[in-house]
Amino acid sequence: MYNTILAIESSCDDTSAAIITEGIVRSNIVASQEAHRLYGGVVPEVASRAHQNNIVPVVKKALDDANMTVSQLDAIAFTRGPGLIGSLIVGISFAKALALSQGIPLIEVNHLQAHVLSAFAKKPYPSFPFLCLTVSGGHTQIVLVRAPLDMEIIGQSIDDAAGEAFDKSGKMMGLDYPAGPIIDKLAQKGQPIFEFPQPRIQGYNYSFSGIKTAFKYFLRDQVAENPNFVQENLHDIAASIQHRIVTILLQKLRKAARNLNINQISIAGGVSANSYLREKLQEMGKKERWDTYIPPFEYCTDNAGMIAVAAQFKYHEGIFTDQSVGPLAKWKF
Ligand code: KG4
Ligand code: ZN
Repeated sequence: MYNTILAIESSCDDTSAAIITEGIVRSNIVASQEAHRLYGGVVPEVASRAHQNNIVPVVKKALDDANMTVSQLDAIAFTRGPGLIGSLIVGISFAKALALSQGIPLIEVNHLQAHVLSAFAKKPYPSFPFLCLTVSGGHTQIVLVRAPLDMEIIGQSIDDAAGEAFDKSGKMMGLDYPAGPIIDKLAQKGQPIFEFPQPRIQGYNYSFSGIKTAFKYFLRDQVAENPNFVQENLHDIAASIQHRIVTILLQKLRKAARNLNINQISIAGGVSANSYLREKLQEMGKKERWDTYIPPFEYCTDNAGMIAVAAQFKYHEGIFTDQSVGPLAKWKF
């Protein structure tokens, strides 16, 4: 594990670069793209152009912060997918060109596997097997992790992702994109006094489209009676929708952990930055006698540090990629 790797992440709207060496992330630089706020969501064309502008300064800062030069690198890692094709192409092309110029190998990384492996960005690490609840803007998955490169999705959302449920609910409340962190903040001063339905989904799968619809009609009916309903109850509405989403997430996770008899539990992805989810997971973990692993904030939302961690495991196994590699919009593991 004594190799030095530069990792690039450009799958969605964050341009990120990180350096890992001796198993420790030395730098993890993220340039977030503010432009999408104006449109209420990520605009793929705008994202690709911003990656193009950001990638060189972001990589340079990652090297500078780690006190490294390009000549010290042993490999270049990049996110191959899943993600937006135009965005992925910027990171992949950059990684290929740099690897070629330095005569060093390329390592492709699956973005979702990297979210799971963010558990190894900071000690203490979970032991195997463990369960990871990955909750991001595009995915909601319960992953059974047998080894760093041996993982299986045992449950997932059949429609919207948890992050989408946050973002779409927030949009209906008139909040900016991405609404997840705004709801988190508002909810801290509210109480979950409004009730939303519990989806009935088999096994370890999730569904969030039902509560999205229920939320829409709830707001419509309340606003019909009182046009200022949302403004007057902002904190309680935020706390209520957050409570429902988090409860749904944790109930299925508990079911999986009990049935599989696993007590090593981690969370990952943008929604794992949610303070209520973090608090409730810890509470549940105490009751269930789990060892819970909650990533530091910088490893929750999209970042190249997690790509670097995943790449290191691949380097160790001698798994490299050749120069003909291209992006994958969808990539199941
Ligand atoms: O993992 P991520 O950065 O990007 C994807 O791979 O999708 O996740 C982004 C998602 C967005 O839906 C955002 O609203 C949500 O994570 N998110 C949060 C919080 N911070 C980010 N949701 C709830 N509470 C937060 N504190
Ligand atoms: Zn992500």
